[in-house]
Formats: sequence, structure tokens, C-alpha cells
Amino acid sequence: MTGKLYNTLKGKTQEIPPVWLMRQAGRYLPEYLKTRGDAGSFLDLCYTPSFATEVTLQPIRRFGFDAAILFSDILVVPHALGQDLQFAQNHGPQLGPLPDLTNLDFEQFHVNLSAVYDAVSSIRAQLDKEGFSNTDMIGFSGAPWTLACYMIDGKGTKDFNETRVFALSNPQKFQTLIDLLTKLISEYLVNQINHGANIVQIFDSWSGVLPPDQFRKWVIEPTKKIVAHIKHFKPETPVIGFPKGAAFLYEEYATHTGIDGIGIDTQVPPEYAAQTLQKHCAVQGNLDPMTLRAGGEELEIQTKKILETLGKGRHIFNLGHGIDKDTPPAHVEQVLKLIRG
Ligand code: CP3
Repeated sequence: MTGKLYNTLKGKTQEIPPVWLMRQAGRYLPEYLKTRGDAGSFLDLCYTPSFATEVTLQPIRRFGFDAAILFSDILVVPHALGQDLQFAQNHGPQLGPLPDLTNLDFEQFHVNLSAVYDAVSSIRAQLDKEGFSNTDMIGFSGAPWTLACYMIDGKGTKDFNETRVFALSNPQKFQTLIDLLTKLISEYLVNQINHGANIVQIFDSWSGVLPPDQFRKWVIEPTKKIVAHIKHFKPETPVIGFPKGAAFLYEEYATHTGIDGIGIDTQVPPEYAAQTLQKHCAVQGNLDPMTLRAGGEELEIQTKKILETLGKGRHIFNLGHGIDKDTPPAHVEQVLKLIRG
């Protein structure tokens, strides 16, 4: 299966870029809220393949995006390692104490994630059944650094200082954790590909809190290993990296990790991405989610600016971060009209 997104990641420049949105299945859609209610909780939604399939398909049916992304969460990986995980309504994720990971049972880890693998198979089958055979299917994982942030800080914070101090004070222990996550994530992504994902994305949402040398050690090095593992076992599968907040380190990430596409956050000037990043790989982004939520003339101006600036090279239209829950679906339609004419 090779859709429009896949072709762009393989090096093809297209007149109309492929488009999908981070968190495209989510609370801004009334049909999502209905299914989440039926499932009982967010985690039940993630771990029940039929519900995960339903919410993954919802934005595809409504908007015809070029790619479907597996409905799950990056935090199912710590959960599968035995760390307690709760999503309290409107409080974000809360994790329990870091479990003892010495003598980890790798087989059990993947058994704990079997509902995710089943969801991937089920989503691919349902896409084909509903006539979306040309729609690419993205699998994903959090990157080692970002997962370690949640595992050590235990919740979302603005700077993940506990994790940063832990890494600086216990470099060997932290390296052991990062190495373990790197191995597990590599296997997790290959398994998703074996179940039907034809593209994978690595979310490094908190890479932006690290100074350069630590960014190289905890972001670039592990990502490079994951990409090499995927390229070894699944050489045809493109990998998208999203090192949110990487700023001046975006180029080094693009040139040193081996990724096929790079997600740029809202602060990256599209002109910079066109000049500096697009020669190395496809560029994905980067409309501001608040501009999308606000709509109107500014949405039109910014959408056109991104299309004009990045449209001469390999470009995947997306947001610079996940869609906001208060976004009117009509604004998504407006953007799609501007992109597709
Ligand atoms: O993009 C998609 O449609 C696929 C599904 C997906 C979700 N989370 C569903 C979700 C993906 C790819 C993620 C990734 C994710 N999860 C990241 C990386 C991307 C990023 O946003 O930086 C991170 C850091 C998480 C951890 C996480 N999950 C947080 C911090 C939260 C709470 C914040 C919030 O928006 O409420 C979640 C919950 C979550 N994950 C929701 C969804 C749709 C909202 C849960 C709900 O329905 O109440």
C-alpha cells in the first residue's frame, strides 16, 4: 500500500500536499465524545480495538485525510512496563512510581500491548472495507526521552526538571533506562508495521527542554538507533520524527537520525524549514493550532503562507502540535478547501 503521504516521504514532491492533523481523532469531534462515553474511559477506548478503530476512522470519514493514525497514547508503553497510569478528566496523565525494570519480561511487555497490535490490524482492515485503501496508516510511539520524562516526573510539567536532574545526577542509571526504552520502542514500532502500519512517527514532545549536548545524548542518539532498527527489519517503511521545541537543533536531528520526514513545531519559520530542512527530508507542519481554532482571515493567510513556502519541496500539511479540543470542525474543512482547492 502506498498512499499520498507515503509517496511524499519517499521523496516525491506533489502539487497538492498530503494532509493529516496531529490528534485528528479527539474531543473536537462530537462523534469522538460519543464513542468515548460508550467506552467508559480514555484508556478503555485505547485498549478496546473496536472502539479504537471507530475513533480512528471518524476523522477519515468526515474529512478524507490522507492518513489515519492509530488511536492510542504514548503512555501505554510505561503502562505495559507495569507503571500505574490514570487519566483523570481534565487533569492530564498521572503515573505511579517508576517500576523496577531489572529482569524485565520482554514477552510479557508485548502481550500487554496486544490490544494495540490488534487495533492496528483492525484499523487497516476497516479502512480497506470502507473504501479508504489509498489512505496511509501511521503507527507511533513516544521517543525514549519523552517517555522517560513522564515515567520519572510522573505527570506533565512545563520543564520536566525532576527527570533532567535525575539524568544529570545518575547518568548511568538514566542511560540504562533510555537504552531499555530504545530497544522496546524499536520492537513496538516494528510490530505495528507487521500489523499493518505503513508509516511510523516518533513523538519527542519534550526534546525542547534539553541543552545541546544532552539533546544529542538523549534525543538524537536513541532516535538514530530506533530508525536504524526499523530500516534493518522494515527497509521500506518511512519514519517521521517530531522533536518538538528542537529549535537550533532541528537541522542536526534531521541530518543525524536517518528519518524520512520531520515534524516542525509552530515556532519554526516555514522559510527556514524550506531552506534548511527540506533538502534532507520531507517537512511536516506547521499551522498553529490556535490559528486553526480561531479561524477567519488569519487562518487563510497562514495556511496559504505555509503552502507557498513549503509547497515547492516535499511537504506534508499538518499542525505544529495537536489540534485543540475547542476547534470548530468547520475550520478544518476551511483548511482542507484551501489545500485541495
Ligand atoms: O493523533 C491522534 O489522533 C492519535 C492519538 C494520540 C493521542 N495521544 C490521543 C489522546 C496520539 C498520537 C497521542 C500522543 C501523545 N500523548 C503525546 C505526543 C504528542 C503531543 O501531544 O505532544 C503526548 C505527550 C501524550 C500524553 C498525553 N495524552 C497527554 C499529555 C494527554 C492529556 C492532554 C490532553 O490533551 O487532554 C493525553 C490524553 C489524550 N491522548 C487525549 C487524546 C485524544 C485526550 C483524552 C480524552 O479524550 O479526554
